Amino acid sequence: MGPVTEEKLAKFGITDVYQFMSHSPQEIRDMTGIDADTAVNYFAKARQALLDNQKIDKIKQTGNDIKKKRTNLKRVTFGCKPLDDLFLGGIETQALTEIYGEFGANKTQICHHMAVRTQLLEKDGGLSTEENPAKVVWIDTEHTFRPERIEPIAERFGLDPDKVLENIIVFNVRNSVEQQMQLEETEKLIREDNVKLIVIDSLMGLFRNEYLERGMLSVRQSRVNKFIGLAARFADVYNICVLVTNQVSSNPDGFHIEVQAIGGNVVAHTSTYRVFLKKSGKNRIARMIDSPHHPDGEVMFKITGIGIMTIEEAEKYEKEQKKEQAKVKAAETRAKNKNKKGTLDEETVELSGIAIIDNGHSEIQI
Ligand code: GTP
Ligand code: MG
Repeated sequence: MGPVTEEKLAKFGITDVYQFMSHSPQEIRDMTGIDADTAVNYFAKARQALLDNQKIDKIKQTGNDIKKKRTNLKRVTFGCKPLDDLFLGGIETQALTEIYGEFGANKTQICHHMAVRTQLLEKDGGLSTEENPAKVVWIDTEHTFRPERIEPIAERFGLDPDKVLENIIVFNVRNSVEQQMQLEETEKLIREDNVKLIVIDSLMGLFRNEYLERGMLSVRQSRVNKFIGLAARFADVYNICVLVTNQVSSNPDGFHIEVQAIGGNVVAHTSTYRVFLKKSGKNRIARMIDSPHHPDGEVMFKITGIGIMTIEEAEKYEKEQKKEQAKVKAAETRAKNKNKKGTLDEETVELSGIAIIDNGHSEIQI
């Protein structure tokens, strides 16, 4: 194309053939003012260039070609049976998994859980090998990544919390331009650093805040398209998992309130799997909304201090936690009372975490 068109496209952030192809001819026409036939012609050329360079799969493939590609597919398991059943074994590489739901629905908590689980060995449900620990890139648009949530989950699954944290690379992005740039830079990390999971928490938050006017909707969607298209391509080309969270809007339609993921068709069509999270008291319901091969279904789970569990596991764990806390409290009370009399038995000392230091005198120092 000519330099004038090229310059116009660059103003919309379109500087390579991939980015060009992630838009529709209609959008390209609106951005540049070229006529429809020319836009379609450019598309044909762009597509041919990518095919010639084997940057995209040929459109005509046999069922066996696709089967062969899918044999490389791997999964990160939740380690929580109902969710693993719902996902037919966990979140997949070569796919973009979108979880959406209202605030507090546990989207971010699931990301923490999966950022840890990805680092387990393949035989234990993660994507690490003995030689090559799996890494995670977390694009944090909400600044809600918390190391203190990662640590107990890592301990629960027998991983070293410090190592797990070291293997999570967090990008705190402040606007949608940074969000795009950071994703682009992630490609280098995937190639060189064994990144196996990209978390995007959340996909639409910044775009939603920045493009408030209705007239900006088409520009916003074009940028969202570019962003999510790139994330999906990384999943596909590099055989990695991409996990994105999304917010919801509710549209009362006269009879009931319909809760929808935001981002429109662009997001809906790019996500391979869409899962809706719903609150049910302290429990959560996960529902498979859209998938090429999963049966529809919903399951329940619960978040605890050490990550996702089934309702039964969570209740058992919480009961034990309460018992533990009561034991420590009782020991503290006992220690206080006995201390008054000047004696301390060994069990009290152990349970209350009091250290006795022998200072060589007849008194003890605690
Ligand atoms: P938004 O980002 O606001 O849209 O929500 P979200 O879906 O990301 O929610 P998030 O994953 O942050 O879940 C927050 C909820 O998780 C809290 O309200 C708590 O109910 C629960 N939660 C967070 N940390 C803990 C924890 O350490 N223990 C337990 N039991 N629950 C926790
Ligand atoms: Mg969140």
